[in-house]
Order: sequence, then structure tokens, then C-alpha cells
Amino acid sequence: SALTPQELLKIAIDVARDAADTAYRMRAEGVFVAATKTTVTDVVTAADRAVERQVLDTLATLRPEDSVLGEEYGGDAAGEAGSGVRWILDPIDGTVNYLYGLPYCAVSLAAEVDGEVVAGVVRNLFTGEEWTATVGGGAWRAGERLRCSTETDLGQALVATGFGYAPGRRAHQARVLAELIPHVRDIRRQGAAALDLCLAAEGRVDAYYEKGLAAWDQAAGALVAAEAGLRVGGLGGRPAGPDLVIAAPSALFAPLHDRLADLDASGGP
Ligand code: IPD
Repeated sequence: SALTPQELLKIAIDVARDAADTAYRMRAEGVFVAATKTTVTDVVTAADRAVERQVLDTLATLRPEDSVLGEEYGGDAAGEAGSGVRWILDPIDGTVNYLYGLPYCAVSLAAEVDGEVVAGVVRNLFTGEEWTATVGGGAWRAGERLRCSTETDLGQALVATGFGYAPGRRAHQARVLAELIPHVRDIRRQGAAALDLCLAAEGRVDAYYEKGLAAWDQAAGALVAAEAGLRVGGLGGRPAGPDLVIAAPSALFAPLHDRLADLDASGGP
């Protein structure tokens, strides 16, 4: 029978904890040699691959009918989703931080049922901080229900963002940022999209936006953000997606959206 979002979350939490332990241990042991992916700065570590393998193996045992979309091995790495459940995994979000030992990287795991994300967990693998959410069930950390910021003035807002790896995209993102920064309190670029969304969920930043995210970067974090009261969407009423993800408290969404639209934040390469 179909699992509830709470039951899927319980699996996700167990799997993400083991995954975070493996990633943490591999780094401590120095087993994290990197190779490059799309560009010389887009790295994959041995830990990314080992963690994804571990999660695929665990889910294949626990949930053989489900499918898995993962950052390193791609889609359909497991079953055929005969169950309607698809897991969306970023084994290490914030790979560059991982490489440098900056304590801002996470395992991100979401469960989608018939195309809708219903449960998600993001776990910082250095600090053990863990954010969870189920659809309609709220966003939580350490037993506390999370609420986003109540800021209403974009000029007072601390806005997180991130950049892709391709030079052309980065140049466009930098131009957008140069025009946005005079109109906000400040910008944070901390290096892990999943965690940025979780920080927004508890008002440690007011809002977040980024172009070019893949599903694994944002699936779990976007649910955490939405369940904490942020509005999560794309441009022109479209859903959040690779063109743009905007997560902002309702009063900030329209002003941030309109600025980003004016600046063609979803454009460029
Ligand atoms: C990256 C991080 C980064 C964001 C990039 C992502 P990765 O994910 O989330 O903060 O700006 O767009 O690709 O490569 O570290 O898993």
C-alpha cells in the first residue's frame, strides 16, 4: 500500500543520516579526490559518488519499486517507479565547500509521489543540523516548527543566491547581482542551494533566488521553505524550475520577482 508523506520522510531521514555520516567520514579520512564535470570548477568528489551509490543500494533494498533521480548517476538508477514514488537525491550539495572543508554542505533527499514532492530532508553533514518537511505538515528543525521571516521591505532584506558553473552563466548572474545589490540589505552566497532554502525557512536569510538549479539542488529545500511559509515560484506565475527559483515571504515575493524579471534574471546562457 502507498506510504504516507510521514512514512516516506522517516525513510528519507534514516537514509540521509547514513549518507551524511559516510560523506563526513570520507572527508575526515581524506578520501575525497575530485574530478571535474561540466567545467573545471564543477567538481565531483569520490564522496559524492560513494554516497549516491550507498543511497541507491539502500533504497533498492527498502523500496525496490521506487525510482531515484540522483545528481551523479542521473535518472532511473533504480526501479521503474511502479510505486509512483521517485526519490530525488543530491548526495553532497555544496561540493566546493566540501572540498575546502567549509561547514556548509548537505545531503538533500526528497520523495515525490506522482510528480509532487511530499517529503524532504536536508542534513548539514558537518554540523548535523537537519531540516525536514512534509506537504501540509510543516517544516521542522530540532523539534521546532519553522516560520520564515516577516520582512516586508525588499530594501531591508538579506537575500541569498548562488551561481552556476559555466562562465557565461556566471557572467550573466553577476550582472543581475550588480543591479540587485543596491536595492537589498545585502547578499549571501554561501554555496549550497538546499541549505540556502532551509535558512530562508527559519528567517536566517529573508529570501533566496537562483537560476539554473537542477531538481536535486532544490526539491527537498523548496518543500522546507514552502512549508515554513515562503512563497516558492518562478517568473510570471510559472513554477520554480531551472529558469529561476524564487523563495520569499509573501510580502517580498512580488518586489523581488519584479526586480528579477526587469533584470532578465532567467535569461542568458
Ligand atoms: C551547487 C550549489 C550552489 C549553487 C549551484 C549548485 P553542487 O550544487 O547548490 O550553491 O549555486 O547552482 O550547482 O554542485 O554543490 O551539488
